[in-house]
Amino acid sequence: MRKKIITVVGARPQFIKNAPLEIAFREFENLEVKSIHTGQHYDDNMSRIFFEELGISEPAYQLNVGSAGHGIQTGRMLESIEEILLKERPDMLVVFGDTNSTLAGALAASKLHIPVAHIEAGLRSYNKSMPEEINRVMTDHLSSLLFVPSDVSVKNLNREGIYNGVHVVGDIMLDTLKMAIDQKIATAPDEKSYYYTTIHRPYNTDHKERMISILSALNNLDLPVVFSIHPRTSALLETMHVSTEAYANIRFIPPQGYFDNIGYMMGADKIITDSGGLQKEAWFLKKPCVTIRPETEWIETLENNWNVLVFDDLTLLKPALEIIPGDYPEGCYGKGNAANKIAETIKDNLKI
Ligand code: UD1
Repeated sequence: MRKKIITVVGARPQFIKNAPLEIAFREFENLEVKSIHTGQHYDDNMSRIFFEELGISEPAYQLNVGSAGHGIQTGRMLESIEEILLKERPDMLVVFGDTNSTLAGALAASKLHIPVAHIEAGLRSYNKSMPEEINRVMTDHLSSLLFVPSDVSVKNLNREGIYNGVHVVGDIMLDTLKMAIDQKIATAPDEKSYYYTTIHRPYNTDHKERMISILSALNNLDLPVVFSIHPRTSALLETMHVSTEAYANIRFIPPQGYFDNIGYMMGADKIITDSGGLQKEAWFLKKPCVTIRPETEWIETLENNWNVLVFDDLTLLKPALEIIPGDYPEGCYGKGNAANKIAETIKDNLKI
């Protein structure tokens, strides 16, 4: 029998995670897949460019919720997604990662008794002050299929009493990255010797003093810094009257498309970030990374210092960048075939 799946995307990393799954779903004749774009990210270089580059089809629904406080943003999504689900009556809803769009989708569907599949389930930072941690925990508890990147996530879920429907499939961002590398679409820029940086977590950006101490630390490094700046960070710098010109060692560039971002990572000596996605991509690319966070949910990346955490004391950034990582622990996040495994499991589950 013909089945219908709705996927919910909304923020930049979700477009990247959805791309390989959409391709894998195309193999099933009896499956109709429609997507909802919540509009959480809406600037061209935060949204449209990823659809174009990764060949993802136009979403069937555009909610255009835009930026707002967490309650308003999630609430608007919840209301609109429920309306769509009542009309479409899908057999399953698929959500990705840990953003407000993820939670809104999972909540709307589960209340209508539509099974939820969560991709990138089981991650935990155990830091409830991060909105993402709340979104992840809630979404995992609402989901009936939980696709996790590694065994660590299985343990995290078990600890919360979740045993059923958990499937270790590897990390789906590796699928996308493999495609970019295999097809030679991502290439390093000509620039030599630099650190590539992104910083956008509220606890790093929302207080002027913290923001300035991060910029000063980057400005004092031994190599130039290329800083791809998230719109929330640039907006905050403007509001705080922080002039980027005061930081001569940092070259600020706008948010990059998928392939250019990977290209910048490939060309960099090391990566400095607070993004979950970049920590993993750095690890996949075997680029040492320093993460400006007190903890990480991607704990495998910490093995043998491929990723080093620096948070309170930013004078530790320089020495952290001097650490030479040990042996590379292969294969923690699978082989880059997560999308096919997910699609096959969903196919069996829905009896497509
Ligand atoms: C969101 C996710 C975060 C993820 C990140 C990826 C939540 C709670 N957070 O954080 O987990 O790592 O996406 O990038 O869901 N803005 C624009 N244009 C845009 C999008 C955002 O200017 O297209 C600005 C607005 O000022 C907005 C701010 O960025 O208020 C924050 O956007 P929001 O989507 O709320 O959170 P992110 O920081 O992007």
